[in-house]
Amino acid sequence: MWGIGGVWIGLGKGKGGAGCTTSALELAYAATQRGRRVALLELDPQGNATDVVEPTTRAVGIKDALASLAPTGGQPRPAPLPLAEVLVPTAWERLLVAPADRYLGNRAVDITPEGISALRNARLSGELEGIVDDVIIDLPRDIGKLSATGLLGMEYLFVAARATVWGAQGAEEMRYTASRVTQKGNPELSVAGVIVTEYDASKDSVRVLGEMRTLFKEALIEPPIPRRSRVREAIESYHTPCREYGGADLEEVADRYQKIYDDLLKKVEGK
Ligand SMILES: Nc1ncnc2c1ncn2[C@@H]1O[C@H](COP(=O)(O)OP(=O)(O)OP(=O)(O)O)[C@@H](O)[C@H]1O
Ligand SMILES: [Mg+2]
Repeated sequence: MWGIGGVWIGLGKGKGGAGCTTSALELAYAATQRGRRVALLELDPQGNATDVVEPTTRAVGIKDALASLAPTGGQPRPAPLPLAEVLVPTAWERLLVAPADRYLGNRAVDITPEGISALRNARLSGELEGIVDDVIIDLPRDIGKLSATGLLGMEYLFVAARATVWGAQGAEEMRYTASRVTQKGNPELSVAGVIVTEYDASKDSVRVLGEMRTLFKEALIEPPIPRRSRVREAIESYHTPCREYGGADLEEVADRYQKIYDDLLKKVEGK
């Protein structure tokens, strides 16, 4: 049985443009297809995930739940809000989002140790119990205070990576970072798997995928998510999950993400 307040899943990467946000959104959608209520917490000031799910308001955001110091000479900051108070409805059924925007980047500079522990404390105290069944955290690319906030909060980390040499190196870096966080502050954290995204089956990708199998062993999720140009069209341009945008190419992608989610849920429920 999972901890109180749901299953806390994170998506990270070591290299930018790894398909991390796309994976976070597709896994969130997959969870809602099992009738689960999901909170998407975006920790990336780019705000890509937030834009896609179209929150009903941006008056509050994840930054408001993260305690921070006032800038030198600035106004004192208001007390942080409980996480539940920064979750807002979206255009996606059963999905709430804690929105992110560029101002989250400023918060990252001033965030206090208490702020960095906010998600962890919310999970351990069951703050979202009865509100959502799953929490999905989208991490930014750089390993800074916002990533630390997310890594301390989550229980299951998926690492997104393309089957490229630099992609594999980035994934290995993220796995190392996660192992440090497991030792230093979040013993509940484990790597649930490495998701290979945008796989094009070119000669070089086939070779690198082979190396990734050796490196990550059973943590490498098979089969990889294929590169399908309409994924970008569906998610990025039309804010629509692959399943709902439709077409055999996107059904295949949706099926892969659904299986990744279902396998995780099975593992969690079997505990
Ligand atoms: N399976 C896929 N096939 C084709 N394009 C994809 C696929 N998955 C993701 N993309 C596209 O690849 C690009 C990078 O994806 P995404 O933004 O999800 O990565 P990210 O790791 O979150 O990036 P960032 O480092 O900016 O946070 C986007 O344009 C996205 O639409
Ligand atoms: Mg992203």
